[in-house]
Amino acid sequence: MDRGPFLEQLTEATDQGVWLIGPDGTSYDVNPAMCRMLGRERNVILASTIFDFVDEENKAIFEDEIASRAAGKSSSRYEISLQQPDGTLVRCINNANSVWDAEGVRVGSIGIWTDITEIEKNKRELLELKNQLAEKVSVQNAELERSNERLKAAHKAARMGGWETNEVGELRWSTETLEIFGLTKEKFSGKLEQFHDLIHPEDRERVIREATYARQYLDHYTSNHRIVRPDGSIRHVQESAAVIRNFKGIPVCLSGAVQDVTERVELEAHFRQSQKIETIGQLSGGIAHDFNNILSVIVGAAGLLEMDQTYDAELVQSIMRSADRGADLTHRLLAYARQQPLRTVHFDVRKLVLDMTSMLRRVVGIDIQISTEMSEKLWLAAADPAPLEDALLNLTVNARDAMPEGGQIVIKCKNVCLNNEENRPTDYVQIVVKDTGTGMTEDVKAKATDPFYTTKARGQGTGLGLSMIEGYVRQSKGHMVIQSDPGNGTAITLRLPRAKQG
Ligand SMILES: Nc1ncnc2c1ncn2[C@@H]1O[C@H](COP(=O)(O)OP(=O)(O)OP(=O)(O)O)[C@@H](O)[C@H]1O
Ligand SMILES: [Mg+2]
Repeated sequence: MDRGPFLEQLTEATDQGVWLIGPDGTSYDVNPAMCRMLGRERNVILASTIFDFVDEENKAIFEDEIASRAAGKSSSRYEISLQQPDGTLVRCINNANSVWDAEGVRVGSIGIWTDITEIEKNKRELLELKNQLAEKVSVQNAELERSNERLKAAHKAARMGGWETNEVGELRWSTETLEIFGLTKEKFSGKLEQFHDLIHPEDRERVIREATYARQYLDHYTSNHRIVRPDGSIRHVQESAAVIRNFKGIPVCLSGAVQDVTERVELEAHFRQSQKIETIGQLSGGIAHDFNNILSVIVGAAGLLEMDQTYDAELVQSIMRSADRGADLTHRLLAYARQQPLRTVHFDVRKLVLDMTSMLRRVVGIDIQISTEMSEKLWLAAADPAPLEDALLNLTVNARDAMPEGGQIVIKCKNVCLNNEENRPTDYVQIVVKDTGTGMTEDVKAKATDPFYTTKARGQGTGLGLSMIEGYVRQSKGHMVIQSDPGNGTAITLRLPRAKQG
């Protein structure tokens, strides 16, 4: 078959440009597709050289091409932008091959041209889209990062952390959770047992029971309990968790948050306690007043009986003694109810304490040492000194009773400045009675100031000591604080307001 007409037809029909040029760039022939690419008639093209169809920038490419071909390079492939008469640039790829005549002389080269303007445009658009997308993603990532930071800050402020546990007892804790439990990353084993060990022993069984029940029957649950940090401090936490189940309803993990609510719990306890004190105070104060009136009748009548010889003197004495004890009791109750008549004077706490110590030493016996630590220039206190003497005696007796095997009592006095209930800095004279005794459990500590609460054997304590002291201190506009841990002794702090100078 003669390939001539076939090749001619192909050259006419193809949308690839075909361009035959001489060794110096003279245009010899073009096909219609090439004419379209150049945006010119065939005769115009044939009357020009290739350099007439490029701008300055692209001209160098053609020059290189001509030079390398003269140097013997037989084929090449390169990209170039052709320029149409209206200035439009057409981006092309040219696959060029040298052409020789029958004698083997190079007569030029034939180029097959592909218009890649559209492809390049798409490529550019795609790239732009990709860049836009990348930018959007980075903006969103930054936003996510920021909101994560904000969430973290909120969690920190709320003392809240996240956790997750799976079916095989593996645990994941956030940094905040580690902080709440007083652990470092390195000390955290990621095992459920470690969490169980950190739960307060008195709450442990219940907490495990609650989680097991929730896993079986609930979608979410909350659990309030105490934890004991590695440094021994006790915190109150609230756990809220969701039970995540698979499509069969089998729990696969628990995902939850833990919040340190110690301050809130303490505040609530404090509030309940002061409400209780208020109520019991009113009640006991009322009773004490009535009882006192009754007693004065008894004492008066007994006084008359005493003068009458016809009555048994011993019996009358016994009535008088009982009435005295009753009066003492009402006195204490009134003190607790903050209704005792107080005679506020300015007095030197240091002198009062030092004057009392030899008497207190006799009370505690030889197995207990009493020492004092007085800061220089102690302010004068504004209160009634007599109940303070009672209070010190009471605290010393309490300390003695808590140290059956002997021990030490230290009485420390110093000046302090603390915010009062209205948050104003206020000066106090502070007296601390500290012992090395048995200490109190949380339960005893919570009830110690309740009137008639005593852990002592019947007849050994009325349980009015601390309640009376608290009543006196509060009535004097001061406060009392009990610090005590089982096995670590007790420190009772009394603060009395500083006497105003001038
Ligand atoms: N220093 C202490 N160490 C350990 N426990 C103490 C101490 N002080 C008080 N307590 C506990 O607080 C309880 C109440 O004390 P409080 O002084 O009010 O009453 P009491 O000493 O039992 O009786 P009373 O003082 O009326 O003779 C005591 O029974 C004791 O359990
Ligand atoms: Mg006592």
